[in-house]
Amino acid sequence: MENFEFYNPVKILFGKDQLKQLPGQIDKDQKVLLIYGGGSIFKNGVYNQVKSALDGYQVLEFGGIEPNPHYETAMRAVELIKAEKVDFLLAVGGGSVIDATKFIAAAALYEGEDPWHILSRRKEVKAALPFGVVLTLPATGSEMNNGAVVSRVETQEKFAFSSPNTFPQFSVLLPDAAGTLPKRQVANGIVDAFAHVLEQYLTYPANAPLQDRFAESILQTLVEVAPAVYANPADYNAMSTLMWCATMALNGLIGSGVPDDWATHLIGHELTVLHGLDHGQTLAVVFPGIFRVLKEEKKAKLLQYGARVWGIREGSEEERAEAAINRTEEFFRSLDVKTKLSEYYIPEETIEVIAQRFESRRWTAIGDRGLVTPDVVRKVLAIQYK
Ligand code: NZQ
Ligand code: ZN
Repeated sequence: MENFEFYNPVKILFGKDQLKQLPGQIDKDQKVLLIYGGGSIFKNGVYNQVKSALDGYQVLEFGGIEPNPHYETAMRAVELIKAEKVDFLLAVGGGSVIDATKFIAAAALYEGEDPWHILSRRKEVKAALPFGVVLTLPATGSEMNNGAVVSRVETQEKFAFSSPNTFPQFSVLLPDAAGTLPKRQVANGIVDAFAHVLEQYLTYPANAPLQDRFAESILQTLVEVAPAVYANPADYNAMSTLMWCATMALNGLIGSGVPDDWATHLIGHELTVLHGLDHGQTLAVVFPGIFRVLKEEKKAKLLQYGARVWGIREGSEEERAEAAINRTEEFFRSLDVKTKLSEYYIPEETIEVIAQRFESRRWTAIGDRGLVTPDVVRKVLAIQYK
């Protein structure tokens, strides 16, 4: 096991009626900016619940955060915050609203030349406004971590940042509010949580048996609960299980002391920013490709994953590794998430565009052990084309 530091200050308030606890989390004298997306919170009643919980507070609102949130929109919120002297941000929605809020919190207090550099040049975030979260969509784990991903429309770039200053102070997790999710978003959420575990687990043996078991337990639970929650997002027990899996998949716990990868995510971000694929869709395409191209390098973990998560114990190593990859892809497809680029009508030229973007950014050896070169990116996308 590698040396590690594990720090997570996020208070979780999970379940029905937890919005009642909101006033206890935010000082009464704080001027609050409620940040939300395209309006789902009006349909599922969360807006009204939040407003009544914040009765007596001075609350301003900023709506219209897009899925895969835009830098340009976030900067408009920053202007409002500066003009109105807002003290506290409250993100209400899914990962996009939370990520936008993290960036807004950091950009509002940024003293450098241009807040875009937080994303494009990984400039240090020395301070950020405090914020809380009300989560309505299980997927990203953003509710219990300090990372965010923001896109710039102007340049078609999607970059991540993280900072010790951008953990939420608290997150209210509402499985019942997620009952109104369209199936496509439920499927995306399952794939995203599954992928987060894989990025921190499917590397190489690192003498971390407990982390492995944590990771496998989340994967097994996702496989178990997926059919029920996909069939009926309003199944409260199934949605609660999915939501807690997604939170635990990316709150730092399973990744402590182990190697990680994230190449699948980085390739996926390009597909989103160039062609508008949902984040979950990109992962369903790229993961099977990464496994296929790096099967030898990742074989030890692929065999362990196949045996412990999918019960694959028969056959040669080659056959078992293949079976583990195929089961993963079938799992994504069982949720109606397509796994081939051509199924999303992506032109073949995009493969080269993405490989060249990686080259020009000098992302020439990413992923675990630096295995993912631009040439590997080409192979991964080509193998998942048809
Ligand atoms: O915008 P509204 O109207 O709220 O609608 C949203 C949006 O259209 C809707 N939705 C949310 N809750 C709902 C609901 N619809 C009905 N009922 C509800 N209860 O769902 C749509 C998608 O929302 P979005 O927030 O975009 O989805 P998700 O949570 O999957 O977030 C995706 C973003 O998170 C980033 C992704 O790159 C992407 O930009 N990620 C963030 C991570 C992090 N911060 O740790 C890690 C991830 O790997 C990921 O990269
Ligand atoms: Zn993700």
